[in-house]
This record gives sequence, structure tokens and C-alpha cells, in this order.
Amino acid sequence: MKQTILSILDLTSEEISTIIRNAIKLKDERKQGISHRHLEGKTLGMIFEKSSTRTRISFEVGMYELGGSAVYLNPKDMQLDRGEAVQDTARVLSRYLSSVMIRAHTHTSIQAFSAASSIPVINGLSDKEHPCQILADLMTLQERFGTLSGIRVAWIGDGNNVCNSLILSTIRTGMKVSVSVPPGYEPDAECVRRAEEDGYVTFHATPEEAVAGADAIYTDTWISMGDEDERAERMVAFESYRLDEPLLKLASKDAIALHCLPAHRGSEITDAVIDGPQSAVWDQAENRLHAQKALLIALFGLEEKIR
Ligand code: CP
Ligand code: NVA
Repeated sequence: MKQTILSILDLTSEEISTIIRNAIKLKDERKQGISHRHLEGKTLGMIFEKSSTRTRISFEVGMYELGGSAVYLNPKDMQLDRGEAVQDTARVLSRYLSSVMIRAHTHTSIQAFSAASSIPVINGLSDKEHPCQILADLMTLQERFGTLSGIRVAWIGDGNNVCNSLILSTIRTGMKVSVSVPPGYEPDAECVRRAEEDGYVTFHATPEEAVAGADAIYTDTWISMGDEDERAERMVAFESYRLDEPLLKLASKDAIALHCLPAHRGSEITDAVIDGPQSAVWDQAENRLHAQKALLIALFGLEEKIR
């Protein structure tokens, strides 16, 4: 298994299936009060250049529950902020820690860190991808539909980091993604090229067209971290890309609504949808914990402990 999970494509189809299976098992056992200490003695450093609720807490609790420890690292408090090279930081942290998770402004800085490090490195969100989010989403879809192959997810709104990882995941899962985004807000061109070549992604002029008959509708904020200066023009561009009840009605009868959170209620998603009976949003958020525990166990080569 690769020791660097910067993209959802850094996991094979088999690895994704195993992680989801193990995550579902860990979730079930946790509900029964069964705990494990598979990561006893392991540490995870967590570098956050941007805010986080779910990623930070799910990784921290996940390490704790598995008998390991997580260390929260704010770059502003580190010598990184005073100019110490990313590569030097990576070399030193590799001497202390067993693994690192990084949420960074630029994907290239996570790549630079991982190139110089000798321990597993996980992308906890970059401007390009959010692979841990998509692992939890795939788990949620698998729980709801019993399979990923052949199901169709519509993506509505901004062609951002989460959208990039979602369309790339079609290469590994056989899932289909239909996208509707305003002109100028398309997903990353290289991700689209790869998904079109080896996965399954289609583009649609309107949200209504993209969601017709879909098994799930997924949306995310119109203003990702780092896009705040574009707020005014984005609010105008995305106005007709809201996930509301009339849009949800166009999807399949049993369709679910997805959002990676944090949500901006009334903008990209309405209260009625996020709080409604078809919302799978809270399961998605919970599944971050289980999917990341299974990912960490896999990265440390300890999967046989789960069987
Ligand atoms: N979905 C997600 O990554 O949430 P946080 O930004 O709160 O970590
Ligand atoms: N696209 C959002 C995801 C937040 C979890 C962002 O990058 O801010």
C-alpha cells in the first residue's frame, strides 16, 4: 500500500473496498461498546493551515479510541511560520511521529512535505483534493445502497476539491457522477480528463438535468476556504445551484442528499433538505471517524487485526 494518501487515487479499488468494509465493522463494534487498541504506541501529527471541525476531531478521537495519540500542530506556532523549510520540518517530524495528516492551502506544499518525509502522510484537504472526505462518502453510499458500482451521484455547485476527489473516485468504484456547475467553476481539468478516460463523469447544463433520476445529490459550500475574496460574484453565479426540495424531487424516489459540511443553510442547501428525511449528511460526518480509523490501520499494515 502507498504510504502517501494525497489523492483518492493513491488507494486501489481493493484497498478502498477493504477500508470501507473494515470501517463498517469498526462502526458496528463501537455501537456495541467493543473497543480495540490496534494503534497502541502510534502517533499522528496533524498540521492545520486552515480551520477544521470534523477532520481534526475525527482524526484525534480515532487515534485515541485505537490506543494511539494525535498531536495538533498549528503552523503559526511552529518554526514553519518563521521560514523553516517544509522539507526540513518533514524530516524532523519523521523522527518523532509515526504518521502525519496535513490540511494545507496548496496541494504542492503537501507534496513537498511528503516527498521529504519517511512516514505515512495523509491529505486532510488541499485546494485540489479531499480524499478522507470521499472515503467517508463512499462508505455512506455503500451503507445506503449496498454497492457503489453503477450508482449515480449528482454534484451541484462548485467544482472544488471535494468534487475533484468525487469524480476521481469513479475510476476506483464504478460509480457514476453527473456534474452541473456554473461556467468558470468547473472541476480541475486534469481530474476531469482522468475521470473521463478511466471513470465516469458527465457534465450537464442545468442542475435539473444532472439530478434527474440520480441516487444521491451532493453539494458543498459556494465559497471554499481561500475563496472568500470572491464572495460577491460567487453568490450571484451559484444562485440557481441550490439543493432544495424541488431539486431533490427530480432525483430517484430513494435518493439521499449529501454535504461534506460545514453547510451554509439557505445558500447551497436548504434547511428542509439538510434536516429532511432524505439527508445522509450526519452519517457522512460520523463516517469520517470510522473511515479514517480503517485508513490508519491499513496505512500501518495492521488490517489483519480487524479480521
Ligand atoms: N468536511 C470537513 O472536512 O470538515 P472540516 O472542515 O470541519 O474538517
Ligand atoms: N470545499 C470546502 C470543503 C470544506 C470541508 C473547502 O475547501 O473549504
